[in-house]
Amino acid sequence: MQKILVARPIFPEVVERLKAHFEVDWNDGPALAPDELVRRLADKDGALTAGDMIDAAVLAAAPRLRVVANMAVGYNNFDIAAFNAANVLATNTPDVLNESTADFGWALMMAAARRITESERWLRDGQWQGWRHDGFLGVDIHGSTLGIIGMGRIGQALARRARGFDMRVIYHNRSRVAPDVEAELAAQYRPKADLLREADHVVLVLPYTPENRHTIGAAELALMKRTATLTNIARGGIVDDAALAVALRERRIAAAGLDVFEGEPGVHPGLLSVPNVVLTPHIASASETTRRAMANLAADNLIAGLGVGPHATQPPNPINPQVLGKARS
Ligand code: GLV
Repeated sequence: MQKILVARPIFPEVVERLKAHFEVDWNDGPALAPDELVRRLADKDGALTAGDMIDAAVLAAAPRLRVVANMAVGYNNFDIAAFNAANVLATNTPDVLNESTADFGWALMMAAARRITESERWLRDGQWQGWRHDGFLGVDIHGSTLGIIGMGRIGQALARRARGFDMRVIYHNRSRVAPDVEAELAAQYRPKADLLREADHVVLVLPYTPENRHTIGAAELALMKRTATLTNIARGGIVDDAALAVALRERRIAAAGLDVFEGEPGVHPGLLSVPNVVLTPHIASASETTRRAMANLAADNLIAGLGVGPHATQPPNPINPQVLGKARS
């Protein structure tokens, strides 16, 4: 029987599914330290990860490893060039999380704009003395301009939600989306700087790559309206969190909603001390249904990628399909 590592706690029934095909080493505790990950992968044929860093050194120390299935759509924790060089298949879990993640991005944007968590903290603190005409004035969502940076599947799901709120949608992306998609979403392309100047609410949904590091820093924040909000449901590092904390403190933008952070699970202390930011612990895809679907899809990828189970040849979500069928090197 082939051996796999399940590197993180996941739903027990998914581990049971995997046990029907593999000898499973399951880390049902905190994320493994890098040296422990290397040690546990040394004799494994496959692994199911969730954000664990897999680079050339890890692959070199795991000579049998042929498939690593990430339980996430983002895979910036994988060095794909190293996977290609070693002929190791990498897979992710796209699509099943699009709608839940878009729902959450919407909620975060609304919570930031309408000051929901800030006012709740104040109420719980016992500070509410009665209704006031100017209590926690926020900025409107309906009728405003939504600026989406990253018009992939989740960005498009956000654009569809904008229709129900009578919003104008502008977007920025590495490349323009097909004209029929632009037309269907009523979304207009803008260069990044123009989008930042025009949008009332900016939402980030682009993948993390080294080029996307600090896509939003001090210079970009300075372009935004003072009444604008910024929501990040993409990855930590896409925003310069230190610069954002300053912009929020100085009210250079109205508010922010952040689900991801540079150096997670650490959060920049400047963000923890400003009131006008909603902070959540990387849970945008975390509905019960969606997280189960992601775990099962990661398992499907591992089962198929290692050549067992009903879809023995073609895993559903190969990131680097060019290595399929090649011997491990
Ligand atoms: C979560 O962050 C994911 O990439 O799926």
